[in-house]
Formats: sequence, structure tokens, C-alpha cells
Amino acid sequence: MSCCGTKPAAAIGAPVAAAAAAAAGAPTTGIQMGDDAAVKASVQNYYGEVLATSDDLKTSACCTAVAPPPLVRQALAKVPDEVLEKYYGCGSPLPMGIEGLRVLDLGSGSGRDCYVAAALVGERGSVTGVDMTQAQLAVARKHAEVYCTQALGYSAANMRFVEGQIEDLAAAGIQDSSVDLVISNCVINLSPDKAAVLREVHRVLAEGGEMFFSDVYCDRRLPDQVRKHPVLLGECLGGALYVQDFIRLCRTAGFQDPRALSTSEIEVRDPELQSLLGEARFFSITYRLFKLAGVETTCEDYGQACRYQGTIPGHPHSYTLDDHHTFAAGKWYEVCGSTAAMVGDSWLGKHFEVIGDRSRHFGLFECGPAPAAAPTPSGGACAPGGACC
Ligand SMILES: C[S@@+](CC[C@H](N)C(=O)[O-])C[C@H]1O[C@@H](n2cnc3c(N)ncnc32)[C@H](O)[C@@H]1O
Repeated sequence: MSCCGTKPAAAIGAPVAAAAAAAAGAPTTGIQMGDDAAVKASVQNYYGEVLATSDDLKTSACCTAVAPPPLVRQALAKVPDEVLEKYYGCGSPLPMGIEGLRVLDLGSGSGRDCYVAAALVGERGSVTGVDMTQAQLAVARKHAEVYCTQALGYSAANMRFVEGQIEDLAAAGIQDSSVDLVISNCVINLSPDKAAVLREVHRVLAEGGEMFFSDVYCDRRLPDQVRKHPVLLGECLGGALYVQDFIRLCRTAGFQDPRALSTSEIEVRDPELQSLLGEARFFSITYRLFKLAGVETTCEDYGQACRYQGTIPGHPHSYTLDDHHTFAAGKWYEVCGSTAAMVGDSWLGKHFEVIGDRSRHFGLFECGPAPAAAPTPSGGACAPGGACC
């Protein structure tokens, strides 16, 4: 995988921005905000025309800093080079233990994560990638059949790529409750209507399904001139949501307790970009959003406990649900109602035992104080160091 690094200032300035904006039909000073079509055209142009490979990225925002888990690395070894060269992700949005699941990748690009998911779900599972950029879809589609039948040895491809907008998955033919796992890697920040994306994700997920995804977030609301800048937008910085606004959007869409799994800060070292961005700090965060009726906005105590069975591939000794819950295999843990639902009633349920129900309520679940570290990504009331950890 290429580590993109930071390009010299000259590469980031007006010529590229002007080219991107002009080709998108936007004025060279920036994209007309409020015009969703102009934002999408600018993004499409960036990923279809401006970038040829991940080496052309101007910042390290669309680069994965953390090494993927061993099973993902094994799967990556079989993925065609052309697919890998056009990878622009910022995280590792693939949980383990997903055999047999129906996976949907939002903004699948050249398809890297879909190719890995196709291996992890096995022949009984299926993977659909949705993207709006023809050039990216063409690469993803080109190798799909041969990869599935020859590299993976399946009788037929279990992976397909659909042209569509992630704000309107119905138009792309994705039915209600038809997906077990939605993944996405460095894409939602590019959408001009993030609320619509989350609403659509909630619609297409089956009860007990999950959105597991990596994206770029900011520690504040960004000013217009940053959000309008075509290169900053294309590089996944301009459209980054203030993390607290993201949590509010999740709750409105029906995901009451967003759980952060991992957070890493994105360094912007280029002086020209730094001066545009000011004090703003950016983070790549992997979030987990469960579609479960039993998940609440606060951690409530029903006297429940769970035990991980050690059965998820790659996690024989312990399983990390989020940044404040790691369960050693074979050991019982007291958990709040939302955590009990996440491990007991979701697709993870076959790997956990849960005891207790909600017939008695004992008040708020005891949690310790949140750590001081920015950007306090977890939406839930359960905090690291608390009783549920
Ligand atoms: C940063 S790239 C990431 C691609 C891929 N997930 C990866 O990790 O390589 C963003 C991708 O999202 C797609 N995209 C951005 N906004 C979109 C939208 N509103 N609807 C559909 N696709 C979108 C772009 O076409 C591009 O391929």
C-alpha cells in the first residue's frame, strides 16, 4: 500500500483547484455551496480525472495510517494491483467474523475493500459496491469475475458494482432491510447531504445489522472557504464533519449510540493548507452504528452480563467492540443495555452469550469519567475506564 505523504505546496495551490473547479463547472474561487450537484461534480472530477493513483493525493487524509489486521493482509495479497493503486481509503472498515453476511460498500471506488470483503464473507455471502464515478467503477468491475472465480475459487462472483448516489440507495436498487453490514472508507465526508446518507443506511440495514466505517472528522465546524475549496474537499478535509454534529446526525437517523472503535489524528504538514485550515484538527475515526431497537442514547443498567466465546476469526483471545470495551474470551462482563443488545442481538450474537433481560431497571449504568483526549469520539455515555469497560 502506498503511504501518500504530503506533497509540496506548489502541488496544492490554485492550478489544481482551478482545474478541479473549472471541470466541475464551478467558479475557480470555490464550489458554490448549497449546490449539491456542484459538490458531487467536483468530487467526481477529482476521483475520475485529477487523481490517477493514490500517489497523486496532495495530503495524507485519504491514506490508511494503521496496518490492517492479518486476515485482511492475507486477503489483500490476492487483490489485483490496479485495484490497489486506486485505493483512497483512510481506515480499515472491515470487521472480522462476517462469513455469510450481505455487505454494502458506500463509495466503493476501485473496489479494494469489496475485494477483501468478498474473501471474508465466503461464497455464501455477497458484496455490493456503490459509487458515482465511472472511472473508478470500471476498474472495480474489470477484475471482479476473474478474482472471485480464480483467486478465490468460487463457482461464481459474489461481488458486484453499481453506479449510484449514496444519498439515494433506493435509486441504485438497494432494498429495505436487505443488508447486514454497511462499510465505507473515506467517503461520507464527501457527501453534500450526510443526513440523507445515514437515513438510507438505516433503511437498507436489516435489524441487527451494522454500519462499520472509517471517515475523516474535525474538532470544529469548518468555515465556508475551507468547505468550498475543491482540493480540500477532494482530499477529504473540506467536507469533514465536526464530530459532535456527526453524533447528532446519527441519532436523528436512528443510530442512538455511535461507538468509536479507533481514532488517529491526520497530520497536515503543508504550510499552504495549514494556513487555510488554521487551528482545525482532523481525525480518521472508525465508527460502529448498530441498527437495533434496544440501543439507547444513555447507558442503562438492567443487570445484564455478556461473555465472548472466542469464536471470531483472528480474535481467539479477546474481542474489541469499541474504544472502551474489550472482552477477554470466556470471562463474564457486566454491561449496559445498549452493549448487551450490540453483542447479543446483532450479527455478533452467535459469538457472545448474554444473560439477563430488561424486566428490571437499576438506573443509569455506572461509568467512569471520560478521558480528556480530543475529540471525544464516542457518542455513548459509557466512557473508557468506567464500570462497563
Ligand atoms: C476517497 S475515495 C474512497 C474510495 C474507496 N472507498 C477506497 O477506499 O478506495 C471516495 C469515493 O467515493 C465516491 N463518492 C463520493 N461521493 C459520493 C456520492 N455522493 N455517491 C456515490 N459515490 C460517491 C467517489 O466517486 C470516490 O470513488
